[in-house]
Amino acid sequence: MAHYLALGDGTVLADLACGAGGPGLWIAAQCGASVIGVDPSSAGLAQARKRSQQVGLTDHSLYQQGTFASTGLGNGAVDGALSVDALQYAPDKTDVFREAYRILRPRGRHSTGRRASE
Ligand SMILES: C[S@@+](CC[C@H](N)C(=O)[O-])C[C@H]1O[C@@H](n2cnc3c(N)ncnc32)[C@H](O)[C@@H]1O
Repeated sequence: MAHYLALGDGTVLADLACGAGGPGLWIAAQCGASVIGVDPSSAGLAQARKRSQQVGLTDHSLYQQGTFASTGLGNGAVDGALSVDALQYAPDKTDVFREAYRILRPRGRHSTGRRASE
């Protein structure tokens, strides 16, 4: 996923259904990106914030409540988006990809392997 997303210094990654934030934080650390985690669970978000402190990425991470269908992020707000082990919980899979395309900047990438502009 990290390779495909092709993120670099100063880019922004959305971790959708981030839970405790592990995958997004790991990729952000590898790539020099910042991460915005979105999850409906306040307990998950609290764990993610704690983990971001533990790995020294507090200044490069933000965690906010939201769902696949409604992330709360602006149009074109991120350079890449991923979701790990969570798509199965989305009530409507079409909503997931509609929202992912909306929040990705032109030519941004999501983790399923298609360019946002295609
Ligand atoms: C198995 S956990 C995976 C967490 C994280 N992605 C990871 O790999 O560690 C599934 C996550 O999906 C979230 N979730 C469930 N329904 C959701 C929805 N409709 N939109 C976004 N996230 C949702 C849960 O709160 C939970 O954090």
